[in-house]
Amino acid sequence: MHPPTPSRALLLCALAALGGKAVAEESSKTTTTSTPVVTPCVATATTGAGAFFDLRPDTAVVVPEGEKPPKGSPVDDYVARGWDYGSNFTLNFCSPVVKEVEDVVGLDKDLWKNVSAYYETKGKVYALGLSDGNLVPRGRKLVLQYSGGSPCGVSDEKSKEKRWEVHDGATYKYHEYDDDESEDSESRRASKDKDEDDEDEDRKDKDKEKEKEKLKTQRRKSATFSFLCDRDPDTPTAASFVGTDPDECAYFFEVRSMHACSIAEPHKPGSVGPGSVFAIIFFIAVLVYVVGGIFYQRTVAHARGWRQLPNYSLWAGIWSFIVDLFTILTSSCGRLIPRGRGYHTLSGSPSGRRHSRDAENRLIDQLDEEWDD
Ligand SMILES: *[C@@H]1O[C@H](CO)[C@@H](O)[C@H](O)[C@H]1NC(C)=O
Ligand SMILES: *[C@@H]1O[C@H](CO)[C@@H](O)[C@H](O)[C@H]1NC(C)=O
Repeated sequence: MHPPTPSRALLLCALAALGGKAVAEESSKTTTTSTPVVTPCVATATTGAGAFFDLRPDTAVVVPEGEKPPKGSPVDDYVARGWDYGSNFTLNFCSPVVKEVEDVVGLDKDLWKNVSAYYETKGKVYALGLSDGNLVPRGRKLVLQYSGGSPCGVSDEKSKEKRWEVHDGATYKYHEYDDDESEDSESRRASKDKDEDDEDEDRKDKDKEKEKEKLKTQRRKSATFSFLCDRDPDTPTAASFVGTDPDECAYFFEVRSMHACSIAEPHKPGSVGPGSVFAIIFFIAVLVYVVGGIFYQRTVAHARGWRQLPNYSLWAGIWSFIVDLFTILTSSCGRLIPRGRGYHTLSGSPSGRRHSRDAENRLIDQLDEEWDD
């Protein structure tokens, strides 16, 4: 084997540097445009082929006053008909409902803006849960769950009634006890009433504390959405109410959506994207062309110097054309400056350049032969 000629080594170095730069640029581009790893309303199935889901286009967005709604995004909440349940459900996916809700039963005021699904009955708003973008793929199903809605229970009215029943029972017992007492003991009865009042007060305080405890550990309404893939682009995304449990604590919905179909995962930062793949293939192709061409020219055509480059005359022609074009442009620009120097360079340069290039070739040939021997 001959040691590599200086010109070839130089050329390879330049190519490698160019290719390395291109790849580096591509990778730095992908890292700058990277998104945070946890994106709400987006999920990748960990099993199987790693199906990727992105439900964000289904989220109804709030359009600020006077602005145009973004194309393709819904701007109204979804309504699921309740049928026999008696109320319709208003909901949004992965985001609070667009319509502002107020006076939500059993929820703090600062959480009203987080309500993602609710229903109204007798003028009261019951939340089914707060916004949550935690989309979970389970096998072929895609599931979204909201929790922390209004307290469970059939309705506020009914639970109040129950509480009154207990209270009535207690007072009734007290009257029964009273009847056993003799009728004329008025004073005793009065003092007893006072005692009972105090006891009542104590009991009320205790009740209040108990109520507070209860509020903390109270079960709250939740909603579970199961998404089904519907490839028909003409059917809009729609949610249907499936049912609830007897406690009216957990609500189930089925959602048909185009976006619940698994799609190809977009380019992840850190991996090789299509742009870099193209750059790498292009670089390898150029390398093969140059190295293969040089090998052929040297061994078969016995070319030396710059003529070892594949299709030297073609590339040299293109190069001289570019140089001529540049010269003409610069000289015509120079002619605008009143000095007439441009013409000189135009007439003098081509022969001179050719001369110098021939000399260069001769020099390289000489060096090459010295290396070969
Ligand atoms: C629920 O929606 C349907 C259709 O939009 C409507 O006919 C019905 O009156 C609504 N029910 C209630 C309780 O609002
Ligand atoms: C409610 O929404 C706000 C943003 O709008 C968020 O910062 C906050 O964590 C949410 N609260 C709950 C309990 O989800």
